[in-house]
Amino acid sequence: MTNKAEQLSVLFASHLENYQLVLAKRLPTSLYAPCIYILSLGGKRVRPLLALAGAELFGASPEVALDSALAVELFHNFSLIHDDILDNAPLRRGQPTVHEKWGRDTAILSGDVMMVQSVRVLESYSSLAYYHLSQLLNKTATEVCEGQQWDMDFEKNDSVTVDAYIQMIAAKTAVLLGCSLQMGAICANASCDNQLALYEFGLNVGIAFQLNDDLLDAFPGEGFGKQPGGDILADKKTFLLLKARALAEGEAERTLEACLAGKWNGSEKIDKVTAIYRELGVDMLCSQLADEYTAKAFKSLDSIDVPDANKDFLRGYAKHLLHRQV
Ligand code: IPE
Ligand code: IPE
Ligand code: MG
Ligand code: MG
Ligand code: MG
Repeated sequence: MTNKAEQLSVLFASHLENYQLVLAKRLPTSLYAPCIYILSLGGKRVRPLLALAGAELFGASPEVALDSALAVELFHNFSLIHDDILDNAPLRRGQPTVHEKWGRDTAILSGDVMMVQSVRVLESYSSLAYYHLSQLLNKTATEVCEGQQWDMDFEKNDSVTVDAYIQMIAAKTAVLLGCSLQMGAICANASCDNQLALYEFGLNVGIAFQLNDDLLDAFPGEGFGKQPGGDILADKKTFLLLKARALAEGEAERTLEACLAGKWNGSEKIDKVTAIYRELGVDMLCSQLADEYTAKAFKSLDSIDVPDANKDFLRGYAKHLLHRQV
């Protein structure tokens, strides 16, 4: 990672640490311990970094966006706790998921409180900024719920199109990246046109980000930290699966359909499906599509009315996200 990314990460880490100390004093401990746990597991901190960078893009100090960065990371961590319940996931960031450790009931409630707190930390802003920031975050939160429901509905739907998949990942994942950047821009008093172009940049980077997430789920890198092949086991309608079903013929087609019909389970199912993905080259097609969305994102970034040098960090960071392994 670049110096700038490290600088922003360090700035955010100390802000988050202070917030965790606040949570540690709240009662009941049984509600807040899981919140502190998931936050302390780290993660890439993509969204807070985007919020801080979104403010810096317009010449403001990143400090003005610290509470927005906190808000989006709290929201993200809430969404992970609930996502892991929905996806029946045992591992998150290399550790047991919250529902595995504390049970579903606590996982639901700890997630709920984190979601509410994500909006409450914005109360530190002036009324006007609070209005715009909370409005954007609440709109985004609604879309994330819609995306998550589509994601689950699609598990049982055999006629999902690539367009519907893109719409689903835009809602469950990409809007929060756009929102994070726009919140930074709001903190920096950027113009509406610039805010929207930056949101569009984040949305397209976010689509590329989820395409990669789906690719990594099937072909995990070193230190992936989640259950490998979880999407395959749950019959998630990823781009990989949609494309493979469209391209597979003969033996590959029969095997793939038998996998979806429940003929094999566990690692046997994962091995068969990933072998077909490789054979058909849908992993490459997925990477290419992620590249296309990143190129689209760069067009929006180009249109923002600030000196070009200010955009270097976001360009570099978007490229870095394309090559991530975790
Ligand atoms: C995971 O997000 C959930 C998705 C939207 C794909 P990240 O990959 O940003 O997770 P962490 O925060 O780095 O663990
Ligand atoms: C997660 O998508 C989206 C949200 C958390 C809203 P995934 O289900 O693919 O995320 P991971 O792979 O569990 O991190
Ligand atoms: Mg998941
Ligand atoms: Mg999910
Ligand atoms: Mg995933």
